[in-house]
Amino acid sequence: MKGFSKVVFLGGLVFILGLFSCKTEKGDTVQGATGEKRNLAIDLGDTGIKIQPTMYGIFYEDINFAADGGLYAELIKNRSFEFPDPKMGWEEPNSVKYSLNKESGFSKITDYVEPKGGNKRFSHTVVQNDARYELFNTGFRGIGLKKDASYHLSIMLANATGVKKLKIALVDTVGTVLASSEIIPDNKDWKTYERVLVPNTIEEKAKLKITFEGNGSIDMDMLSLFPKDTWKGRRNGLRKDLVELLEGLNPGFLRFPGGCIVEGKTLDQRYQWHNTVGPVMERELLINRWNNEFAHKSAPDYYQTFGLGFFEYFQLAEDLGAQPVPILGCGMACQFNSGELVPLENLGPFVQEALDLIEFANGNVSTPWGKLRGEMGHPEAFNMKYLGIGNEQWGPEYFERYKIFAKIIGEKHPEIILVSTPGPFPDGDMFDYGWEQMRELNVALADEHYYKPPEWFLENANRYDSYDRNGPKVFAGEYAAHPNEVEDGTLENNWRAALSEAAFMTGLERNADLVHMTSYAPLMAHAEGWQWAPDLIWFNNLDSYGTVNYQVQKLYSNNAGTDLLKITEEGKALIGQDGLYASAVKDADTGELIIKIINTESHPQQLKLVTNNGTLDKTGAMFSLQSSDLQAVNSFEFPNMVSPKESTLTVITDMVEVAVEPYSVNVLKIKIL
Ligand code: AHR
Repeated sequence: MKGFSKVVFLGGLVFILGLFSCKTEKGDTVQGATGEKRNLAIDLGDTGIKIQPTMYGIFYEDINFAADGGLYAELIKNRSFEFPDPKMGWEEPNSVKYSLNKESGFSKITDYVEPKGGNKRFSHTVVQNDARYELFNTGFRGIGLKKDASYHLSIMLANATGVKKLKIALVDTVGTVLASSEIIPDNKDWKTYERVLVPNTIEEKAKLKITFEGNGSIDMDMLSLFPKDTWKGRRNGLRKDLVELLEGLNPGFLRFPGGCIVEGKTLDQRYQWHNTVGPVMERELLINRWNNEFAHKSAPDYYQTFGLGFFEYFQLAEDLGAQPVPILGCGMACQFNSGELVPLENLGPFVQEALDLIEFANGNVSTPWGKLRGEMGHPEAFNMKYLGIGNEQWGPEYFERYKIFAKIIGEKHPEIILVSTPGPFPDGDMFDYGWEQMRELNVALADEHYYKPPEWFLENANRYDSYDRNGPKVFAGEYAAHPNEVEDGTLENNWRAALSEAAFMTGLERNADLVHMTSYAPLMAHAEGWQWAPDLIWFNNLDSYGTVNYQVQKLYSNNAGTDLLKITEEGKALIGQDGLYASAVKDADTGELIIKIINTESHPQQLKLVTNNGTLDKTGAMFSLQSSDLQAVNSFEFPNMVSPKESTLTVITDMVEVAVEPYSVNVLKIKIL
């Protein structure tokens, strides 16, 4: 298979040939080049193979500040002083004191209720001689504010003795006040005070400033600032622009919360879902494993508050119309780190975590976990069908543990479809052993991961053509083409990578009888806080954009279809012959034929598409992603540098002639009459 062999192209031309006419985006009809035609045959007859509604989904992991500082719309970092360094995220130009309430000898304070659960600390601020002490929160690499937008501020205060007033302000980098308000503490016990702040200008790097007036002390906790305009206007909500990008993907499933984050570097640091539900304030902080995973990308301020926890993930999946696919640890810490193991005889509580989760998601409100879900505002079940056991585990230690989970869950909840894994790599001894085991154990879904160069994706478009059809179905749960060309992570999401993924995806689709779920990974990255690139979506404190890879995923997932069709050239599937890759489906709901054609060559391809076993409408539409520059990227400045262009197709007696541009991804849609 060839691809990217000729990097230079006389870019920007629109090609057509023969009978085909194409309307450009602006609507003017153009005539294209002539050349040797390739004949592609599409059989509209039933193959009996369904495209699963879960075919194209989302892999979500809290990596690259994807949750706190990202999707979770909280703007204050370390809002309740729970970070190991309680002052992290806070600046105190003069002497504000923080104390750990359990250790600080607050024996005098006996008549108020302490914040509960995971919320172990608050700040104790001493103001002397009316010195107007100031405290700043610096947000997540600044606080992003939009002009005239409303921001909900809330603060818990207690024990104001002598401190008369708190002046709250949002300030820019030189201290100019953009919005302000005041709070006069009027209660000895903990009380939540709320204000709405409306900045008079846009600012990407604002700070929250608190000025204390008086002479005495005051305790503070849970200082929180959320935009009012969150996704669906929820108070503990998600960033709207980011969820809208997810919504654009029309995902069949949402996998969460990872990724390696599930496993923890040590067992102590593993993700425990039950610590992420219930009152937000009581959810216990955990270090994010990406905090110190990569020395060259260290993020010492990366912690998980779990304001975005399992309830919110289930709710998000529901909002997106996606199947929730939680992945749980299986009694093994990450094997790339400590590899700590829970002895088999002690695995009970870990299996119980899985059973509890099923109850939390699906149980009646009369059950303990179902009751909590109801109290959190969702008495109806989330109808969870899938559950992953382990992330990237490998070796006999994994399968010994998987077996125990599978047996108990299978007995109690035969309706739950379990996901297993052959490990982190797409081939090799570990992978082969994993598949052997999964076949033996009759696993339903095998979660394969591959982060490889673009060439690998082109060469592996036939990866699943020869897979055993009697074993587990495939969940291509994490994949991305890594060009590894540049230091700047955003530039890793280039057209060369996206084009190779698009080509590879024709192979996923062609094997839809076997491949039931697929997701690009990772999903999101903060441009100033990332650890891993490429990523599907980039954001900063104000803006976000879908990468060129996102555009590919979007095109596929919005044109997934329902039934696989056959598309061939000289009787063979198109898997890179002269740079051409193709797949075809029918959408029984819309009555459309949908053809995906990817041209990875630097020259146009002139195609004659002939259908049989059905009649087509006289016109159709073609949506194309194209760039003659393989290094092209979308960016904050040019978010639509590579984005779909629509043109019209003319069909003559069930035949379409079309020229596909060099380096292009094309989706053709024509009604079947
Ligand atoms: O997607 C980033 C990481 O890659 C995931 O956490 C892990 O599962 C894989 O190794």
